[in-house]
Amino acid sequence: MKITVVGAGAVGATCADNIARRELAEELVLLDIKEGIAEGKSMDMMQTTTMCGFDTKIIGSTNDYAKTAGSDVVVITSGIPRKPGMTREELIGTNASIVKGVTENILKHSPNAIFVVISNPMDTMTYLALKSSRLPKNRIIGMGGILDSARFKFYLSHAIGCSANDLHGVVIGGHGDTTMIPLTRLATLNGLPVSNFLSEEQLKQVAADTMVGGATLTKLIGTSAWYAPGAAGAILVESIVRDEKKVFTCCVSLEGEYGQKDICLGVPVVIGKNGWEKIIDYKLNAEEQDTFNKSAEAVRNMNAVLSTLTL
Ligand code: 2OP
Repeated sequence: MKITVVGAGAVGATCADNIARRELAEELVLLDIKEGIAEGKSMDMMQTTTMCGFDTKIIGSTNDYAKTAGSDVVVITSGIPRKPGMTREELIGTNASIVKGVTENILKHSPNAIFVVISNPMDTMTYLALKSSRLPKNRIIGMGGILDSARFKFYLSHAIGCSANDLHGVVIGGHGDTTMIPLTRLATLNGLPVSNFLSEEQLKQVAADTMVGGATLTKLIGTSAWYAPGAAGAILVESIVRDEKKVFTCCVSLEGEYGQKDICLGVPVVIGKNGWEKIIDYKLNAEEQDTFNKSAEAVRNMNAVLSTLTL
């Protein structure tokens, strides 16, 4: 198994580190456009092998896509992160041309790869990767919902006073402060609805905190987060390479499912060796479907910006 992570910034390097520690590949390539950074971070990670007990070979590359040849899975994290006060959507002008270029370069050397897109604005970058690669839809997966669902469980666990590991909860829709939809109705603590433990007002607060979860961290750190985004990317890759068939919320191409088409949006999917293999229908109620439609409208408007850019 060969995996490439494009972008050796904080998210890319953390994702690579998680992939290496889980020994998901014999060979892991970390590529960045900035001279030396991918080689340096790869060497740093390789120097942890004797302490962390993994054997993955990590190769750093400054923009040499030949080194990525024959990758089975490619994670794209390239682009600029947001600064405090910025929305993910404001990154589109810079990140769209980067993601398109990366997709094309990767395809030249790894025509059979499954793509995981993390770059923001993620829903639009996933749509762009799908359109520019012309790959079968199952091989293009945007990572946002896994992270947002983890943040949802974090805030729920704090509000309830329980372990986040005892919670099930998913966030669907777009990966934006106003477009993500924490499904509080379907969240459970060991099978019991979380509404058994929290008032409607508390649940609304948890949902609101989840939606600005990334922005809260950006304000605190001064740039966007990386530990949880990197770990989320790695568990998605793990379900692909180990063919685990885990159900994760991922941004995938919809063709009528959840009432939407010609868009990539976060819905629960089965992840296995073929990429995303199946969409799970959560049977949204009327209010949730309405919110989902509004999320789709906002993402569609963002996708429309792509045609105004010179890519
Ligand atoms: C986040 O929400 C990086 O979009 C990512 O932190």
